[in-house]
Amino acid sequence: SKGNHKHYMLKEIYEQPIVVAQTLRSYLKRMEGEITLPIPEFDLSTIKRVTIVACGTSFYAGMVAKYWFEQFARVPVDLDVASEFRYREPVMEEGGLALFISQSGETADTLAALRHAKAEGQKIAVVVNVPTSTMAREADLLLPTHAGPEIGVASTKAFTCQLAVLAALAANLAHAKGLLSKDQEREIVRHLAEAPAALNGALAYDEAIEAMAHKIAGARDVLYLGRGTDYPLALEGALKLKEISYIHAEGYAAGEMKHGPIALIDEHVPVIVIAPSGPLFDKTVSNMQEVMARGGKVVLISDYDGIQAAGEGCMATITMPKVHPLIAPLVYAVPVQLLAYHVAVLKGTDVDQPRNLAKSVTVE
Ligand code: M6R
Repeated sequence: SKGNHKHYMLKEIYEQPIVVAQTLRSYLKRMEGEITLPIPEFDLSTIKRVTIVACGTSFYAGMVAKYWFEQFARVPVDLDVASEFRYREPVMEEGGLALFISQSGETADTLAALRHAKAEGQKIAVVVNVPTSTMAREADLLLPTHAGPEIGVASTKAFTCQLAVLAALAANLAHAKGLLSKDQEREIVRHLAEAPAALNGALAYDEAIEAMAHKIAGARDVLYLGRGTDYPLALEGALKLKEISYIHAEGYAAGEMKHGPIALIDEHVPVIVIAPSGPLFDKTVSNMQEVMARGGKVVLISDYDGIQAAGEGCMATITMPKVHPLIAPLVYAVPVQLLAYHVAVLKGTDVDQPRNLAKSVTVE
């Protein structure tokens, strides 16, 4: 049931601290400061390349994972949307790992891609939320998320749980490659274990986000910008907004704006900038200022320090708890989900069952 919530989507957004904690519990040994996989004997040490394939929101989780796998485990990653994967005749070397991410475990494009990779001799890993699904059954390495049933068509809690599992997998891969010291592993465990509390901290800004949604609901187009792992978050924010509020929205890598999309900017286009303080903050802020100089109405989502440093001149700011960059994609998912949700409610759309969409897409 929806409990006290008006929609399943809102209920599922609010469940995130609990289900992320639940998911992490099966990957972290907190006392020992270790990360484990459900099949500890699965050998990751020989993996030279990872191919990640998924659709929609699950694809954006995979895009975040690409940054992590390359950064921590120094393993090159190929990333495709499932509907494109087979048709580009991808080159897969012997002994590669192919990783499929899916809430339902039934998405037809992703399943077809999985079978293709299997036929090409890849080891198959899946991150799925439905343990009885077809993908779960066909995997060599099953990495479950424990988000519980997700009813809202717009994926929310499945996404943050996928990120939790993917961060654990990236750390495990780094460990298997001998790239992670005991201390570094302990640090990663500590940061991941902070995610549930940080998600609660993010949810505390719900009312402020709801109030801000009025400034977005009248827009015809909305842009989302981010860099690094916040770039997939920008894409995810735009997807959430378009699928439930029917407002045209696009996500861009912040640095790519000046190569074309900045031509769209005027005072009618809100630009949501996702920029936690960290190594990429200054670069993103300078892209944000380019937008402001052209009359763009910016909503800056950052932490207290980031907003102090760059919030001036923004149409609005949303303050997030200050978190380690590793868990920032989980935490910053919350404000983009809530923003899309409140805008959709203001527009009076069918939030849980948006037009033209199905929860599980079982045709190719
Ligand atoms: O069940 P899956 O994760 O395989 O589904 C993939 C996409 O269909 C799904 O994420 C879709 O994009 C959502 N409606 C996004 O909110």
